[in-house]
Amino acid sequence: MRTVYVNGDYVPEAEARVSVFDRGFLFADGVYEVTSVLGGKLIDFDGHAARLERSLAELDMPMPMDADALLAVHRRLVEENGIDEGLVYLQVTRGAADRDFAYPDPAPAQTVVLFTQEKPGLADSPAAARGIRVVSIPDRRWARRDIKTVQLLYPSMGKMEAKGRGADDAWMVEDGAVTEGTSNNAYIVVGDTIVTRHLGEEILHGITRAAVLRMAREAQMRVEERAFTIEEAQGATEAFVTSASTFVTPVVEIDGAPVGDGTPGPVARRLREIYLDEARAKGR
Ligand code: PDD
Repeated sequence: MRTVYVNGDYVPEAEARVSVFDRGFLFADGVYEVTSVLGGKLIDFDGHAARLERSLAELDMPMPMDADALLAVHRRLVEENGIDEGLVYLQVTRGAADRDFAYPDPAPAQTVVLFTQEKPGLADSPAAARGIRVVSIPDRRWARRDIKTVQLLYPSMGKMEAKGRGADDAWMVEDGAVTEGTSNNAYIVVGDTIVTRHLGEEILHGITRAAVLRMAREAQMRVEERAFTIEEAQGATEAFVTSASTFVTPVVEIDGAPVGDGTPGPVARRLREIYLDEARAKGR
């Protein structure tokens, strides 16, 4: 049985308890982070901790502990659960209070939960080797997607629609342009240029995105941060997604149309390799 972390305690998962009055449960009043683990090391931990602090600040919440203490909790769970390849999930909510739309005053103790998920084959993934198929759906999420809140019902519905249409995932479209995948950032390769949507409130500022764009520029690849359409993506030479749980994963089909020759392309393959090499070297 896994050991999970709940509000200062390390307990077997069956003994972990959160209040029914928790505002994460009642209002989705909470934020989360997912940090991947490779070779028992945490990948891009500093970026995830920094984004957590920003998400919390946007919701008028403080960090429940500093980044070093957070790192120690992550490490202890990875070690106690013997995670070699997998994820650490972290969630912080405003805490438990009598149900009221207004934030409780004084603020209750925040709820802090972390657990691990073992994912053998995360790095050596069949989806990355084969490429994934996506379908487009309208982006019907709220407008502050830069805050990593736990209100994930629409992305979850999008994933189900994709499955129902015989695909692996969905790309969301707003005002004619792709915003992002249900749980990843979206990219195309046009000529010799990697194109991905510019940052703003419309998308999550992916930690993997930041690392991959930096590595692409360091490798002298051209990068353009701008919006693109599904039609442009279907005519691109390559497409791919990035996230903490998929790293760089090629997209080989969009709404039934093959991208390029319908197989994973060299840019996505190279970026995945570079990312994984650096991740393994710099994991904490
Ligand atoms: N999802 N966009 C959305 C909507 C996401 O949910 C995610 C991450 C990303 C990629 O961000 P990052 O590179 O920091 O993981 C982009 C995580 C993995 C999840 O919900 O499981």
